[in-house]
Amino acid sequence: MKKSVMLLVFAVLSLFAVSTAFAGAAKCPQKRKTKKAPASLYNKDKTKSANKKNGKAIFTKKAKPMACKMCHGDKGDGGGKLGAALKPKPRNFTCKKTMKDVTPGQMFWIIKNGSKGTGMAPFKTLKDKEIWDVIKYIREDLMK
Ligand code: HEC
Repeated sequence: MKKSVMLLVFAVLSLFAVSTAFAGAAKCPQKRKTKKAPASLYNKDKTKSANKKNGKAIFTKKAKPMACKMCHGDKGDGGGKLGAALKPKPRNFTCKKTMKDVTPGQMFWIIKNGSKGTGMAPFKTLKDKEIWDVIKYIREDLMK
């Protein structure tokens, strides 16, 4: 009996270790080789009139085929469940050093068109307005 209890405890502990290893935040600074948006878009910012609440809904559940948090993580640190297996890793929005050159327009360009050769696919189902909404949420609530 005692032995089986110990085995059970061991099994639970190792499962916990594995799941936390997979759900860890992405590194900071994070290597970033993402292509740069065309200048006209790179300097564009329409987040002022965007709806952050809707942006949060898109990030956490509404985006199709998959919510952003599945890869980028609830906190935006790149620690989403699906992100662990990806190479390169999902962007860690909480990492200032990596995000300093990532403008709202740059984000818009990648969300709309994807980052070729990475797990970041284009989100064709999001309207432009919705993309600005999710950018506002990321920049104001997740980026520190
Ligand atoms: C299947 C996993 C996955 C999902 C879902 C996903 N992303 Fe990403 N995302 C990535 C990866 C991987 C990268 C890194 C791409 C690279 O290095 O170029 C990335 C990068 C980004 C970047 C950084 C662009 C840059 O120039 O550095 C932004 C912004 C972004 N994602 C926004 C989103 C938003 C918003 C959603 C939801 C609408 C989303 N992502 C959903 C995997 C994902």
